[in-house]
Amino acid sequence: MPITKKYKKIVIGNWKQNPTTHEAAKNIVKHIKKTASELKKTITVLCPPFVFLQNLGKGEQPFSKGAQDVSVFESGSHTGEVSAEMLKDCEVEYTIVGHSERRKAGETDAMVASKIKALHFAGVTAVMCIGEDNRDSGGQYLDTLKNQIKHSLAGVEKKNLSHLVVAYEPVWAIGATQAMSGADVHETAIYIKKVLADLFGHEYVVKVPILYGGSVTFRNAGEIVKEGHVDGLLVGRESINPEGFNEILKVVDAL
Ligand code: PGA
Repeated sequence: MPITKKYKKIVIGNWKQNPTTHEAAKNIVKHIKKTASELKKTITVLCPPFVFLQNLGKGEQPFSKGAQDVSVFESGSHTGEVSAEMLKDCEVEYTIVGHSERRKAGETDAMVASKIKALHFAGVTAVMCIGEDNRDSGGQYLDTLKNQIKHSLAGVEKKNLSHLVVAYEPVWAIGATQAMSGADVHETAIYIKKVLADLFGHEYVVKVPILYGGSVTFRNAGEIVKEGHVDGLLVGRESINPEGFNEILKVVDAL
């Protein structure tokens, strides 16, 4: 499901390295399915670990399947890697790239760019994460964001921007106790759009959804999306708590 006139918002659940069993994964899906099927304007994307992708079911579902990473390679001798084509074959529509936890483990902007191109080649939408480690009063973080965007999108074709989602995730707000304020999200989202427009031209980037991620709960989800003027959310911890995640979906859909 791509963002369209009907589906205006997108909420992505990044399960990270959770849960431990197939049974528990099925249980999360079971509890989210009903709420997701009742949404009028919001796309739900569930990103479990690779091994649970099949637990999300086959065929028509009230949510889209997502993955948390992808190989830069098409196929071959790359132990442990999963290709974009394999994900496509599992009906994956969205894939997170450049998450700060992967960047910490060595993923560079150049690798993110290769992954995005591999996904585009397979027809999968890339959810490109960017975010500064710290917010300094001198505005250095804006340069960090600009460089991440520029280098992570190097070589990405304009015509494939319809398969791009940008997730702004300030690293200091991930796994924290408090999210960023809606006003600050708004200011940063405008900046991100400007950087994208300077790179590709306004007409190509107006439709690129900008999401916020970092300590999102049902309590702050409404304020962040409304005041932040973003197209949705990337949710970590609360995405494996079906009650909390369902509330986030409802709050966003009611805006
Ligand atoms: P969090 O994680 O919601 O647990 O802060 C967000 C993320 O890492 O995508």
